[in-house]
Amino acid sequence: MFTAAYIRSSRLSVKQSPSASLRRAEAALALTLFVASNALGWGQEGHRVVATIAERHLTARARERVRQILGPEGSLAAVSTWADEIRPFRPDTAPWHYIDIPINASAIDPARDCPNGDCVTAVITRFVAVLHDNASSPNAKNEALKFVVHFVADLHQPLHCADNHDRGGNDVHVTFFGENANLHSSWDTLLIERIDPDPDSYAKRLDSALTNSEISTFERGTVEDWALESHSAAQKVAYGALPLGESRDLGADYFQTAAPAVDLQLQKAGIRLAFILNSQRGAAIARRE
Ligand code: ADE
Ligand code: ZN
Ligand code: ZN
Repeated sequence: MFTAAYIRSSRLSVKQSPSASLRRAEAALALTLFVASNALGWGQEGHRVVATIAERHLTARARERVRQILGPEGSLAAVSTWADEIRPFRPDTAPWHYIDIPINASAIDPARDCPNGDCVTAVITRFVAVLHDNASSPNAKNEALKFVVHFVADLHQPLHCADNHDRGGNDVHVTFFGENANLHSSWDTLLIERIDPDPDSYAKRLDSALTNSEISTFERGTVEDWALESHSAAQKVAYGALPLGESRDLGADYFQTAAPAVDLQLQKAGIRLAFILNSQRGAAIARRE
């Protein structure tokens, strides 16, 4: 989807000044790097599901603030993959999408897992603070909101919080129902698309199933606690349910174990994103550390 939009927009440039064609070449290169870098967060669909669940839980006040901050850019769902789209042009943001907590660790070691504060947990905290700071410029708030929407979702992708010397499973070749894939992309995209290829119906199903008591449980904890839950899902399910032996063939058995974990992580992400955006209670997560 991103690819198609990109090609369409580059075709739109009718006049071909040298700088326009240079920009096209840059864009093509960036697109290649983007596609090749296979370390994106949840794919498009996962981000839309999380943003859609969050939207259903915003207070009227938060909804209005979001509308002011985003302006014509539209909904949370519409901006949910912006952080992936700008990544090729802003390589410094690449480590912000994940935190590599070693698979056998049981706690976060910031020096080891979050060098220079460049990891998903630290940037969520920073951007939530920007979002709730009256002194932030409109542009800073706009970017902060788009980053928060994206990174809260990424944090809930188990393989964005775990690493087994394999870039969060990117280097683990698998087959997914017979198709060549890797473990990471199976979690970013393939599981989700197999559960329900329509983000709106998927979000609706997940949201309708939530109880008030689940919602208040999800709202507890710090961003680091949330990352450790995600890491634990990686230990138990993403890596833990891998078939033994060399073949790494993910089929019905793996799907049956993984799908409920995917559902739960998407539900948590949606509820926690809304919680952060619903004003002062959410702002507290930037101060909980
Ligand atoms: N690159 C390195 N580690 C990664 C991870 N855990 N998730 C996504 N991309 C990565
Ligand atoms: Zn990813
Ligand atoms: Zn991402």
